[in-house]
Amino acid sequence: MQNNRFHIITYGCQMNEYDSAAVSEMFLRKGWVSVPENEADVIIVNTCAVRQNAENRALGRLLTLAGTYPESRVGIIGCVAQEIGKKLLEKYPKIAFAVGPGEIHRLPEIIAGFDRSAHLDVDCLDGKGLRAEIKSGSVKAFIAISRGCENFCSYCIVPYVRGKLRGRPMSDIIEEIKRDIDLYVVEITLLGQNVNSYIDPETGADFAELLEKVDAIDGLRRIRFVTNHPKDMSERVIEAISCLPHVCESIHLPVQSGSSKILKLMNRGYSREKYLDIVRKIREKMPDIALTTDIITGFPGEADEDFQDTVTLYREVGYAGAFAFRYSPRPGTAASNMIDDVPEKLKIERLTAIIDMSQKFAEKFSKSLIGKNRKILVEGESAKNPGMVFGLDRAGRKVILPGKKDLRGQIVNVIIDRAEKWFLFGTKI
Ligand code: SAH
Ligand code: SF4
Ligand code: F3S
Repeated sequence: MQNNRFHIITYGCQMNEYDSAAVSEMFLRKGWVSVPENEADVIIVNTCAVRQNAENRALGRLLTLAGTYPESRVGIIGCVAQEIGKKLLEKYPKIAFAVGPGEIHRLPEIIAGFDRSAHLDVDCLDGKGLRAEIKSGSVKAFIAISRGCENFCSYCIVPYVRGKLRGRPMSDIIEEIKRDIDLYVVEITLLGQNVNSYIDPETGADFAELLEKVDAIDGLRRIRFVTNHPKDMSERVIEAISCLPHVCESIHLPVQSGSSKILKLMNRGYSREKYLDIVRKIREKMPDIALTTDIITGFPGEADEDFQDTVTLYREVGYAGAFAFRYSPRPGTAASNMIDDVPEKLKIERLTAIIDMSQKFAEKFSKSLIGKNRKILVEGESAKNPGMVFGLDRAGRKVILPGKKDLRGQIVNVIIDRAEKWFLFGTKI
């Protein structure tokens, strides 16, 4: 009987996507084969615990798969594994393994050994030596530059499930990028819960220096990075972003709330004024930068005037895009001990107001690009638009233009002639 066919399902953020690609690469190197779920000997569900509904969705899928494929070994990795993996193994005999994000490098040996104990040493991995699978033909790749987070924002479960902040050695990051370039990748996104607090454990280099070194790699055309913490957005980092030719003009700078009172309760380490000051400094150097953000509505204690502060801050910054979430209490976090006093209905009302506003501003940003010449990295053919290709401009907006797949991997100049909220249409010049 064959016993080396695997299938991975991924929930959660780009770090989870990276981890799944790294797990895949480890298995492929050992001669395993990636197959659809109904043919797999081993099914791995990579999970997210950031909000209760994210957790429920991943757990629901895990249990359904375990019920549907009793002959396969179905197991859980990722942030929910770290949070409750032990309990899950006790409660559900059909779950074959639970491995946290700190031990994914051991997954092949754990699975090969039919080891059913929980593997939850959260700080054990710094990412050195991990390589993510690159899908053939891909022009973009993610690179993890650090693991974990120790900011302990009061609502957030990430520090508990991903452990302390550990920078990955810069030499190792650069090696993985060079390998990707050999596989035709031309754009990379540096990943971390807090990229701008990066420190190289070997040389002490900071994020600005890492950007400089990566920018100088031969063959790399574009660099992006997520996520930044406003409190660590130093002038050195702003300077590096504005000066380095391959670093794209877009910054995801999650604000979470526009109210200094709520920011304090969230333990974010900056006030409304400080955040706006950082935005001003960024715009002084890069007037055309696309800023995007994350916002939480209905955090404990959020009064109407606090929410209005978020609305006015949003207008003042004029974000090109935003992810908005309603507050979800997470076990073990400081905020889970606060009274969750904003009624669900109001959380949703506020969330809807932010989403409406984000769509208006997204459209405004997109329309401001009509008539402009944008540089697009073509990724491939547009599935919905025959005879067209698509790619992103440096701000991160999707652009659709007439063309064939031979343009893939090229950076082309495009004049924008039509704009929707989240994408643009243009013509190559
Ligand atoms: N490290 C990143 C993002 C982490 S999670 C950062 O600091 O920006 C992604 C987003 O999920 C957060 O920015 C926040 O907006 C949201 N989030 C995190 N915990 C949450 C919670 N308990 N309830 C609702 N949203 C949450
Ligand atoms: Fe969570 Fe805050 Fe760390 Fe982001 S910076 S992962 S929100 S604790
Ligand atoms: Fe979710 Fe874990 Fe990412 S909790 S957001 S998958 S770090």
